[in-house]
Amino acid sequence: MQIGVLTGGGDCAGLNAAIRAVVRTAGHELDRSVVGYRRGWNGVLDGDSVELDPDAVRGTLPRGGTMLGTSRSSRRLQTEGPAPLIAQLERDGVEALVTIGGDGTLITSHRLSEAGFAVVAVPKTIDNDVFGTDVCIGFDTALGVATEAVDRLHTTAQSHDRIMVLEVMGRETGHIAAGAGIAGGAAAILVPESPFNIDEIAERLIARHHRDRNASIIVVAEGAIPDGSVAVPDTGTDEWGNRVLDGMGQFVGDLLGQRTGFETRTTVLGYIQRGGPPSPSDRLLGSRLGARAVEVLMEGCTGHLVGVHSTEIALRPLGEVAGHTRYLTGDQLELLDLITTAPVLTRVTSSRRWF
Ligand code: F6P
Repeated sequence: MQIGVLTGGGDCAGLNAAIRAVVRTAGHELDRSVVGYRRGWNGVLDGDSVELDPDAVRGTLPRGGTMLGTSRSSRRLQTEGPAPLIAQLERDGVEALVTIGGDGTLITSHRLSEAGFAVVAVPKTIDNDVFGTDVCIGFDTALGVATEAVDRLHTTAQSHDRIMVLEVMGRETGHIAAGAGIAGGAAAILVPESPFNIDEIAERLIARHHRDRNASIIVVAEGAIPDGSVAVPDTGTDEWGNRVLDGMGQFVGDLLGQRTGFETRTTVLGYIQRGGPPSPSDRLLGSRLGARAVEVLMEGCTGHLVGVHSTEIALRPLGEVAGHTRYLTGDQLELLDLITTAPVLTRVTSSRRWF
């Protein structure tokens, strides 16, 4: 069996461990090299590939990013569907594909599978919001970076008696914000799942500062949204119709500074969360999932996500997971209220699914 591999969507740490595991497992079990597609699905459409043997992946475990490059979805894919992908894969002699990506990659993988091509997907995204797995490659590293940022902000916040706002990534979900905020001891954590009331937070910060706590850390997910009590600047939508996320941390920082009268500073962590060497956990996760993905294909199973449930590797049909989002659970949101000083009461939007 000739296997192909690609990485799609935004990069993260741990992708090379997954690619390496695919290549090494195929080398051991099938005694052949793997076709690596450059720049995600665009590499397949353009016939841009490289032969990957165990030598080609040597020394890649500690390297961040993806040795294959990656890209967001392409217009051609949307308009023409999986046919041109299958035509190129057949030209390359590739009979089965391992895709490593987030939800966009899962959706295309599902279409490919429905069209009869053998494919399994491995979940990655620092946002940790792929449905059907407890954890995604890249999350642990990003969480470590964000938690370190909170730790570092504490000391400078205390020196200056300041409110420090930290914006972290998290477009639809608050897994990084919740994780780093809880692990770092933030006073408030704002997540997309639960619209926040800025006046409530300001009041609680003032009360906190009256209790001799003159420094506070607020962690804001980039996709957090206020409730109706304050108007948000319209940042428009991108070419795919997604809301452009532009400066929620600064917006929150400005409002809190005005409403509390305390000196406030904002830090945007940005792509530092995505870059750099993977944590040991991400290297292990990439290795486990990449190796299992090849085994699954060899067992004749296709059209599945190779993810994690509890501590075990678990398969879920792509048709059940693609197009869904794994939000923070009700329990996790309650913990934010219980554990922070300035809780954001959980006004859960009823249409959301909590898995
Ligand atoms: O990969 C997910 C993510 O990091 C989001 O948190 C963020 O909004 C987005 O990617 C940024 O993507 P881009 O690389 O397209 O700027």
